[in-house]
Amino acid sequence: MKMQVMSSLTKIGLTKQSPAEIVLTTFSPDKKPHASVVGVRTMGGSRVLLRIFTNTRTFRNIVQSRAAVINIVRDVNLLVPLALKRFSRFGKIALEFQKPGTVNAPRLANTDAHVEIEVEKVERTKISDEIGSSEVAHITARVKNIEAMNPTIHPFKRSEFFVIESAILATRIKEALKNGRDEVAKRKFLELSDYVEKCRRIAPHSGDLNLMIKIKNLFKNEMRH
Ligand SMILES: Cc1cc2nc3c(=O)[nH]c(=O)nc-3n(C[C@H](O)[C@H](O)[C@H](O)COP(=O)(O)O)c2cc1C
Repeated sequence: MKMQVMSSLTKIGLTKQSPAEIVLTTFSPDKKPHASVVGVRTMGGSRVLLRIFTNTRTFRNIVQSRAAVINIVRDVNLLVPLALKRFSRFGKIALEFQKPGTVNAPRLANTDAHVEIEVEKVERTKISDEIGSSEVAHITARVKNIEAMNPTIHPFKRSEFFVIESAILATRIKEALKNGRDEVAKRKFLELSDYVEKCRRIAPHSGDLNLMIKIKNLFKNEMRH
């Protein structure tokens, strides 16, 4: 059964190595449906891992309701306005929700797949970076049901965008070097290195990171980084 869940999750593009950017839907204590954009990865077996900032409504809802739905969508016109909903000037997005399925959480309508989950464990950790300090919760949840309306769906993954951008940069660096524009080549190589580090942070054991290291190594004779 666990293997079956794992392979169904893999089929709809959720993996352990690289987080997928999805819409998480939850109920507030007064049963109002809520949606936000978060990353999710699988943990092996029938578990998934979410990292949710504790100062969000999503966190307060999920801790209370102990359930959520991972809605897989591949539409920037939905994901971006939803992700930027706190910027009032960006404009509002109207979302259509469906009634709960097997867990205590609403489902988003018109999505490619639904993964219904129940919370097992919540571990809070303080984090501190150049932006400031915050608290994030590592939420382990168990998959209760998977519905794939579009079985060929592939969710957005940041690590894949980093690879594509790196490949483009590599072609530009080669051209710049050929034209003797060493300063431009160096600047673009720094950009490439920055993408490699971003990918290493979110997907350290991914094939995407290996690809990026291979791209970066194309220039190991020309650049000393
Ligand atoms: C692509 C993308 C991925 C995000 N991933 C996460 C995440 O994994 N965890 C998180 O807490 N916030 C994440 N965010 C930020 C949340 O979308 C943001 O905190 C959200 O607005 C929370 O709002 P809420 O208070 O309505 O729950 C992400 C944003 C974007 C654009």
